[in-house]
Amino acid sequence: MKLFGIKNRRAGQLDPEKLPRHIAIIMDGNGRWARKRGLPRSAGHAVGAETFRRVATYCKNIGIQYLTVFAFSTENWKRPAEEVASIMELLEKYLKEAIETMERDRVKMKFFGDISILSEKLQNLIARTEAISERFDGVQVNMCVNYGGRDEILRAARAYAADYAKNGTALNEDTFSRYLYSAGLPDPDLIIRPSGEMRLSNFLLWQAAYAELYFTDVLWPDFDEKELDRAILSYQKRDRRYGGVKGKST
Ligand code: FPP
Repeated sequence: MKLFGIKNRRAGQLDPEKLPRHIAIIMDGNGRWARKRGLPRSAGHAVGAETFRRVATYCKNIGIQYLTVFAFSTENWKRPAEEVASIMELLEKYLKEAIETMERDRVKMKFFGDISILSEKLQNLIARTEAISERFDGVQVNMCVNYGGRDEILRAARAYAADYAKNGTALNEDTFSRYLYSAGLPDPDLIIRPSGEMRLSNFLLWQAAYAELYFTDVLWPDFDEKELDRAILSYQKRDRRYGGVKGKST
């Protein structure tokens, strides 16, 4: 199995039977990483984008099925225009490169968030990336862009209300989940936030209900395969009870 192959020797300490199916990451700390080096914040984001690429590849190699990353929130528009532009440029660059390499890597990509206010160029790249992805059924990367957890829930509630007026579908957790960006996907098992902050910041509020949370002081640009192993190892030691009692499934 790939997990213990030469390529992933480091992953040898992980229990392949207890891997999280879905990992979600708040890629935080780019600005502080840059400031510590006297660099502009955009330099931190550029290294952060490389870290994302590296971590996504590693997730694929060790057999993680879903990776969801927070790239840009509904609140991030409050940042200086120059910084917003630098993040959009990085996304554009990444998507262009991803389109070139997708056939080889067979990584499925999805976008969570309201992308309708992004540039036409970005929207086209996103549409192309998602269309190519339709053909793949392996690892899936969900990139959250102009995403907010509350916004997602409100949109889902509006869409549900419109459907209810037409067909009166009963509302329960399962039917409601189908209106979220994450429709059809398992909830994240593990949510990682680097950079020392201990909050969710409007990330996957509905889906995080039973996620295990992992916080580390490492800044996102310094995050690597070893750090991900640490997070997964911590996850593998957790006792997930979902409100039940240890050792009982009901
Ligand atoms: C949070 O760090 C990071 C962001 C708001 C942007 C994340 C964007 C990227 C990693 C690049 C996106 C591109 C791709 C291809 C994924 P922060 O700026 O809030 O850091 P700070 O808290 O130290 O200021």
